[in-house]
Amino acid sequence: MSDTLAQTIHVLDTLGIPALFCRPDRIVQQVNEAAAVLLHDESHRLQGAMLDELEGFDELAKLIRDCERTPTVQEVTIGLTLHCQVRLRQVGDEGCLVILNDISEYHEREKYQRDAMHMVAHDLNTPISVVKSYADLINQMGSLTPPQLQFLDRIKLAAEHMSRLVRDLLDLTWIDTNAPLELETTRLQYVVQTVVENLRTTAAEKRIDLRLTAKDDLPPIQGDPGRLSRVINNLLSNAIKFSPAGLIVSIDIDRQSENELRIAVTDNGPGIPEEHLARIFDRFYRVPQSEDEQNAKGSGLGLAIVNAIIEKHGGRVEVKSKVGEGTTFIICLPVET
Ligand SMILES: Nc1ncnc2c1ncn2[C@@H]1O[C@H](COP(=O)(O)OP(=O)(O)O)[C@@H](O)[C@H]1O
Ligand SMILES: [Mg+2]
Repeated sequence: MSDTLAQTIHVLDTLGIPALFCRPDRIVQQVNEAAAVLLHDESHRLQGAMLDELEGFDELAKLIRDCERTPTVQEVTIGLTLHCQVRLRQVGDEGCLVILNDISEYHEREKYQRDAMHMVAHDLNTPISVVKSYADLINQMGSLTPPQLQFLDRIKLAAEHMSRLVRDLLDLTWIDTNAPLELETTRLQYVVQTVVENLRTTAAEKRIDLRLTAKDDLPPIQGDPGRLSRVINNLLSNAIKFSPAGLIVSIDIDRQSENELRIAVTDNGPGIPEEHLARIFDRFYRVPQSEDEQNAKGSGLGLAIVNAIIEKHGGRVEVKSKVGEGTTFIICLPVET
């Protein structure tokens, strides 16, 4: 190890920055004092050890193994409870400089907030269901005056809106906890068909014709039917919501290639201006122009959820849109091998 490098590691230590240096074979060559404290290496067992063979260091070892020439910043867990942001820098052919930043506290706080959000969203389900079912019951209790009926409708719409919001928040916490998919052999056409049937009434209220076409003999995929239903539901709900009344929304399932299936959801609605296309998959992002009365309801979370679920399935989402003509969302998913 060059003198300059040894000095750098020492300077980092003086600044209280944990750093270590690994040779290309991932033998640890130097550990500064700050890193020794952070990694509880009082007995200096790290120096001279091979990182891959140390318990709890497998994530870090993998990161260094895959380290490119360009400096990278990534998060790793070391042992059970230490979460670090790691900066890696290749130093010529000498090895890799590893700079650690302890973010365990931030990690812990984030987890706490996520758990709290999950709990609140989950607990809101019950009171919302109560509001919805009593609103339905009032309707059946006898005749109501037109203003009473109007107020009741507002209560129902608001409860429906809350219910969707809670569902979106639960989806988000599911994504953020990196929970696994419940994979099984899945026939996409059945998943899509069920969602289409569930949305027929909503579509009919706007006189929108939902048209489903599926190629025969489509192969199954390895998928999580519950999550994929959420994807289709979000895309179809958008198409219905943003389309003017009386139009057609179509959903087609076909092969994209030998190894992929393709679902396309097409509407003839207002379209999405090109400058917004890149951002519509961001959390909470909604195209400003579309916030007229009809479109105002929504959290801006639907497409972020679609994207995350499809990525978890090893697939991808694309969008094609022309203002004034309509929008097509395309999902490609790998077939079961
Ligand atoms: N089919 C569509 N036609 C026009 N705009 C759309 C369509 N789907 C999505 N968008 C735009 O993308 C934004 C984000 O969609 P989404 O994440 O589902 O949020 P939300 O439906 O709650 O507004 C929408 O607010 C809208 O501006
Ligand atoms: Mg939506």
